[in-house]
Amino acid sequence: MTKAPVVTLDGPGGVGKGTVSALLAKHFGWHYLDSGALYRLAALAAKNHGVDFTNEEALAVIAEHLDIRFDQQDSGVKILLEGDDVTSQIRSEEVGANASRVAAYSRVRDALLKRQRAFRTEPGLVADGRDMGTVVFTDAPLKLFLTASSEERARRRWQQLKDGNIAADFEQVLVDIQERDERDSSRAVAPLKPAEDAVIIDTTELSIDDVFNQAVALIKDRVE
Ligand code: DC
Repeated sequence: MTKAPVVTLDGPGGVGKGTVSALLAKHFGWHYLDSGALYRLAALAAKNHGVDFTNEEALAVIAEHLDIRFDQQDSGVKILLEGDDVTSQIRSEEVGANASRVAAYSRVRDALLKRQRAFRTEPGLVADGRDMGTVVFTDAPLKLFLTASSEERARRRWQQLKDGNIAADFEQVLVDIQERDERDSSRAVAPLKPAEDAVIIDTTELSIDDVFNQAVALIKDRVE
């Protein structure tokens, strides 16, 4: 593993990790790993190939052989699965819920580990997920863990879906968030929890700019 600097941002769904991570990567000119996208892509590939979500062996094979590409474009990152543009498809609540199921299997997680670590190249990496600080990049010089109330996270996720022209019912988004929290936090392998050396930021009352500014200050202090 190279020793390019890496900053990890972990936390539950809808907490704003993705937005803050992408802003940080852009600000420092670093690479960005959206590890949730890998689990979402594995879930979508499994569904496309008719694989049962309880078949760990078959799901691991899918994860090992994922044919994916992240194309950086002016408008953002275009995500391709087996050559098809699935950038917006993988953001649906259905794919998110299936990703959370697929992610509970240790063989699937193992299959995606090497791919995730390969993102750590110069000049640096911002890695966003659930276990970036506890499993994937345990030696990261700065680990952030973002939290917010489930109601606030549901509100943010609902707004994000609305902005992306995806119809969603707020109460349903809240139930989905709470179910996903429960599954991600209670699973046996790599459960969602802060690393012992993580800095915890409760973002319930904070704007994206507030969180971004706190993170920039911490990175300048501890990493740069
Ligand atoms: O961050 P997200 O909503 O795109 O993630 C989708 C699911 O993938 C999430 O419910 C749990 C799983 N996941 C994981 O287990 N580990 C990660 N590092 C990232 C995501």
